[in-house]
Amino acid sequence: MVTRVARAYGDPERDERVMREAGEIITGGGLVAIPTETVYGLAGNALDPRASAKIYAAKGRPSDNPLIVHIARLEDMAYLVKDIPDNAYRLAESFWPGPLTMIMKKSDRVPYETTGGLDTVAVRFPSDPIAEEFILASGGYIAAPSANVSGRPSCTTAMHCIEDLSGRIDMIIDGGEVGIGLESTIVDLTGRIPCLLRPGYIGPEGLAKIIGELDIDPTVKGIASRDLKPKAPGMKYRHYAPRGELTLVKGSPDAVTDRINRMTEELEKKSRNVAVIASEENAAAYTCRDVYRIGGIGDEEGIAHRLFAVLRELDDRDTEYIFSECFDTPALGLAIMNRLIKAAGGRIIDLTEE
Ligand code: TXA
Ligand code: MG
Repeated sequence: MVTRVARAYGDPERDERVMREAGEIITGGGLVAIPTETVYGLAGNALDPRASAKIYAAKGRPSDNPLIVHIARLEDMAYLVKDIPDNAYRLAESFWPGPLTMIMKKSDRVPYETTGGLDTVAVRFPSDPIAEEFILASGGYIAAPSANVSGRPSCTTAMHCIEDLSGRIDMIIDGGEVGIGLESTIVDLTGRIPCLLRPGYIGPEGLAKIIGELDIDPTVKGIASRDLKPKAPGMKYRHYAPRGELTLVKGSPDAVTDRINRMTEELEKKSRNVAVIASEENAAAYTCRDVYRIGGIGDEEGIAHRLFAVLRELDDRDTEYIFSECFDTPALGLAIMNRLIKAAGGRIIDLTEE
């Protein structure tokens, strides 16, 4: 299959044509990678079981891992969901269109192929204008997981989509770099108390302000284990992972730079390919040859925005061992660390405990 790459910004006439063609691909049962404000998504018709099957195949994703259904009109939620809870309307009013996904009871119109066999459906109304136009041009109900091949870091540029999906899907819409860089916040509204399943740009405080009580799935803060199973099936897989071995080091800046320097020096002596992911403030203190400056500690949005691109670049350079600082920043720290801990497969050296 030849994958067409088409830019969809900057030239209204062409952009409209691209959107029309993309819409025809989707209604014809095909797949298109699209930008959203969070990360790129791999889109297919959510109401077509064969399209969902194709998405799983293109990503190499286990088919028990449900897909998010994207809409571009609030009123379309009622087509997908049975018994919409009041909290859904409240959250939608505050955060849609935007980086929030809500889990609710699915209607009979949503095929089990799309929900990974579950009786619930994840619904999201993205704010990216290209995503919005695309959804409307494609029938209104779009299943879209992140556009990465299963297990790899999510795609924040069209180039990342090309790397992962070229030859496997019909089209990639290039909308430039995404804004946020981390996937949407997921909240489960099916229980008595709403529950945060995946942290994102919208934090737990923001959600609680609107709906009052909010539980946080215990796996949000760390890695899942046999006793601790996440409620979002996708969060149980090792995810966002670079091919090299990533280790996180937690502690005071001096203790962290010191420990990382000792480890990288040891490995570089053995001619291993090693890199460090560092904040702007500490970067100069590392002796390692390869130091990735991910951003200033005060620039949480910048760190979130660059995280997946940095992990992918480390792959491009065949880095074998990666050491990273922890970024427990006030607003986005929960989301950033959730991704980093998964990317590290739970490998953390905690110097605050020594
Ligand atoms: O920002 C995003 O949400 C991006 C863009 C493309 O919209 N999409 C995305 O999809 O991150 P994906 O498939 O990579 O992650 C969806 C997560 C998975 O962990 C999945 O298990 C969970 O949502 N999920 C989907 N439907 C669910 C359901 N019915 N119940 C519980 N978890 C669900
Ligand atoms: Mg994903």
